[in-house]
Amino acid sequence: MTLPDPALVVLIGASGSGKSTWAAARYRAAEIVSSDALRGVVGSGEHDLEASADAFTLLEQVVAARLGRRLTTVVDTLGTDVPRRRRWLEAARAAGLPAVAVVLDTPAAVCRSRNAARDRRVPARVLTSQLAAVAAATTQLADEGWRVIRVAHEETAPGRGEVVRDEVSTEGSLDRRGTGLRGVVLQLSRFPAEGDLLAWLRDVGGAAEAAGLSGIALMDHLIQIPQVGRAWDPIPEPWVTLGALAASTTRLQLGTLVTPVTFREPGITAKAAATLSALSGGRAFVGLGAGWWEREHTAYGLGFPSARERLDALERGVELMKALWAPGTKPYAGQRVSLPETTSYPRPVGPIPVIVGGGGGRSLRIAARLGDGCNVPSDEVGLAKVERYLELVRAEGREVSEVHATVLDLPLVGSDRDDVWARVERHRGRTAAPAFAARHHAGIAAEHAERLAGLAERGVTTAFVAPVGLTTADDVLALAPLASAFG
Ligand code: CTP
Ligand code: MG
Repeated sequence: MTLPDPALVVLIGASGSGKSTWAAARYRAAEIVSSDALRGVVGSGEHDLEASADAFTLLEQVVAARLGRRLTTVVDTLGTDVPRRRRWLEAARAAGLPAVAVVLDTPAAVCRSRNAARDRRVPARVLTSQLAAVAAATTQLADEGWRVIRVAHEETAPGRGEVVRDEVSTEGSLDRRGTGLRGVVLQLSRFPAEGDLLAWLRDVGGAAEAAGLSGIALMDHLIQIPQVGRAWDPIPEPWVTLGALAASTTRLQLGTLVTPVTFREPGITAKAAATLSALSGGRAFVGLGAGWWEREHTAYGLGFPSARERLDALERGVELMKALWAPGTKPYAGQRVSLPETTSYPRPVGPIPVIVGGGGGRSLRIAARLGDGCNVPSDEVGLAKVERYLELVRAEGREVSEVHATVLDLPLVGSDRDDVWARVERHRGRTAAPAFAARHHAGIAAEHAERLAGLAERGVTTAFVAPVGLTTADDVLALAPLASAFG
């Protein structure tokens, strides 16, 4: 059962039906607003009925404040008060949050026996009237406008509150050899190595292999970009760094995402990639883009021509690389590129896929006509571009099965719901927590695996995954459940 998130979740069930237990297994303590707990805050304890009025005043305030901020709010009361329910539903609608009524279908006999086992029992006739009120509420909920979820007595097992970190197994990872770029590729954009870059790379590479990921892609920038970090954070030259990764890994595909065609003449990138292919036993790929950040060009004494010229260079660059990697040393006379000879040794070990980054119409056409794949964001806009790209590939008379429809995904991955929200709070900056969480699909690994499997259904073959705040090899190991999302 997957519940919308963020959402208003109102529990409905008699005493002892298991409401608090159900909520505690799925939500963080701060997300649950409980009338009992608030009696304990403003009264002598959870059962201090004298404090009910004050407790409910507080409860209404907390519910309104949380919903106003679009924060998931689980209301743990009997849930049978119609005017209150109407108010909460209206507040959720005003905030644009889905409203879910969770009805605990626990048999009356079970509630009664649990009640009997408690230190402080609800009087029998009170419990009877609660059960009747719950039954009555159940018939009204859908008409009131709630999305109703009924929880059978047997289903009250813990759900997503659990830590669902799969055992990391290296067994079977060898089976994935030869799948190339398909699957999940870790994209590294930050390098918090704390002094020993080589040791950090070795740990991260080892963890990526152990987690069953398909490869590692390095961001190619001369200065750390503001979207990721501060200008003085280290951002190593990727082709040198990939050489180090080639030495310490045996299975991962290795490349950039993406090398701007403005940084190096494409012939030099072709040389670097062919060398990486030779060093790594054919594991090299090239992500190539038009470049976009003027500051790093100016700072390093590079030209930054117009967008049109950069895209022209991208188009020529892909063609030139392929010409240099082709067998033989004969002259090459192509549509955009002519070379007197194509003498390039060492030869690449097997083909080197070229992934063209950028979702503009022209980038997609270059990717479809000359490249081996595209790269776009993993949001809805990006997915529409994947669809467009695959149409263009077919229009070129190429097989869709031969190309890589790749997306860049920036997930926030936590080990459980508490850890997820602690990470949201740590990384959100000035962005409101719910917006930040939504942008990064904040969740545990199993939830991301399910989401990525959905992308695969829409034609995506490869997700380049750059987890928010990735720091250690453990953060990479935590991605193991994602590795099989693409089958
Ligand atoms: N319980 C259980 N198995 C479940 C759910 C609950 O054994 N699947 C037990 C809990 O351990 C607790 C009792 O049933 O001792 C009542 O569960 P609780 O979640 O506290 O029920 P509530 O509906 O929250 O009851 P109340 O309205 O009294 O707060
Ligand atoms: Mg309770």
